Amino acid sequence: MIIITGINGGIGNYLFNTYFKNGEEIIGTYHLSKPEGEQYKNCVQLDITDNAQVEAFSKNISSPSEKITLINCAGISYNSFAHKSNVEEWVNVINVNLNGTFYLIRGILPTMREQTFGRIINLSSIVAQTGVLGTSAYAASKAGLNGMIKSIALENAQKGITINNINLGYFKVGMINTVPLEMQEKIKSKIAINEFGNPENIFNTIQYIRETPYLTGTCIDLNGGMV
Ligand SMILES: NC(=O)c1ccc[n+]([C@@H]2O[C@H](COP(=O)([O-])OP(=O)(O)OC[C@H]3O[C@@H](n4cnc5c(N)ncnc54)[C@H](OP(=O)(O)O)[C@@H]3O)[C@@H](O)[C@H]2O)c1
Repeated sequence: MIIITGINGGIGNYLFNTYFKNGEEIIGTYHLSKPEGEQYKNCVQLDITDNAQVEAFSKNISSPSEKITLINCAGISYNSFAHKSNVEEWVNVINVNLNGTFYLIRGILPTMREQTFGRIINLSSIVAQTGVLGTSAYAASKAGLNGMIKSIALENAQKGITINNINLGYFKVGMINTVPLEMQEKIKSKIAINEFGNPENIFNTIQYIRETPYLTGTCIDLNGGMV
């Protein structure tokens, strides 16, 4: 079974529909509004920053749903120079991207440990490793994920559970649409392949992680050769 958060978002929606078309057993979670379409009928509303909601959701995910892959797609960004930033917005980014992702992992791990199998995949960002103006909150939240998985990998390696991040560059769907066009061109000029990524690359990387039990506690850079 595959669990995907943030199915209203560009990447989450692409992954949900790809797995749905492939006939996989899949549960998607949405935040504010349920997407329209028959394929979404079993999707669940979930605010990942609310640990009580996440615990209730996680308790419903139990056997016979085996071989769980959790794909953490939900995320937000906030753009501001640090000295002008709004503290509530800053904290909110940490709450969604780091704390919310952790709540989900914490909630699903007991079932994975019982089943001695699990794949946890978080969508992190190149911004966690490179300086980008105005992204201190986003970068901190994603860098937090990169540290967090090392410990969780160790704790669960003997239970058949792997946890990895994909450090994404810039992709054609989702958050990129909030970036002004002029800035998009500047970003593209730093990508060796010279274009934003197709989400199919994310799907293929997730499949590689799912099928590679020896890969854990690590980050895969998927960025078209960005410098
Ligand atoms: N697209 C890229 O190029 C890129 C690059 C690097 C990393 N990433 C990462 O990839 C992931 C997906 O990105 P995307 O581009 O698809 O973003 P997106 O289109 O902005 O979608 C983000 C999703 O997160 C959901 N979300 C926000 N707050 C939430 C909450 N409190 N509880 C549950 N869900 C919540 C949103 O739902 P609502 O709209 O209903 O709030 C939305 O469905 C993110 O983690 C992002 O940081 C993306």
